[in-house]
Amino acid sequence: MVSPLILVNLKTYQEGMGSNAHRIAAAAETVARESGVVIGIAPVFTEIHPMSHHYAIPVYAQHIDAIAPGAHTGHILPEAVRAAGARGTLINHSEHRLTLADIDACVRAAQRLHLESVVCTNNDATSAAAAALHPDYVAIEPPELIGSGVSVSKADPGIIERSVNAVRAVNPETKVLTGAGIQSGECVKIAVDLGTCGVLLASSVVKADDPEAVLRDLVSLL
Ligand code: G3P
Repeated sequence: MVSPLILVNLKTYQEGMGSNAHRIAAAAETVARESGVVIGIAPVFTEIHPMSHHYAIPVYAQHIDAIAPGAHTGHILPEAVRAAGARGTLINHSEHRLTLADIDACVRAAQRLHLESVVCTNNDATSAAAAALHPDYVAIEPPELIGSGVSVSKADPGIIERSVNAVRAVNPETKVLTGAGIQSGECVKIAVDLGTCGVLLASSVVKADDPEAVLRDLVSLL
């Protein structure tokens, strides 16, 4: 069985910036080392390089743009993300939606650069569409539960199950993550028992007084 991935998206939360970001990364590194569970972190772009070099955990970009090196201004160049040390990248996060053509181009860019691609989706139909593009992961996140404190694992396990089935039917090699409101080991266990390979989460870790304690709980039932 593939080792589950706990991917912590710091978004642009104040609590996930600067020294706070490093506190969370250090906690993730400690918990990953002690538990053997892979814990990745997706910080703001400016932290990709320092985090990739200071911590042993995999670092992901929150987004890439489907551009090639050249005359572009203000974009996120996939080559630059790779050079900064990222292991992979989120694509089409609910808070940064792309067209299907752009998602396709981003997945291809990630493949070309050996970056893991994590395409976020909002329902089982978009999960199937994303799987057809052959990303490494599809991350199903019902938008209405993102940041709500209500876990998708408990509020809508059906969407996880349907997405796992939809992705398997289209492309069995693409793994599924689930996210939105994930906050405990129980949420992670439900998601994994439903056939996913881990979770994508943010607020329960980023906004916690003690991120390390939350991370320990998240991996506790794996
Ligand atoms: O990228 C993770 C995310 O959208 C879920 O956020 O705060 O519900 O864990 P949250």
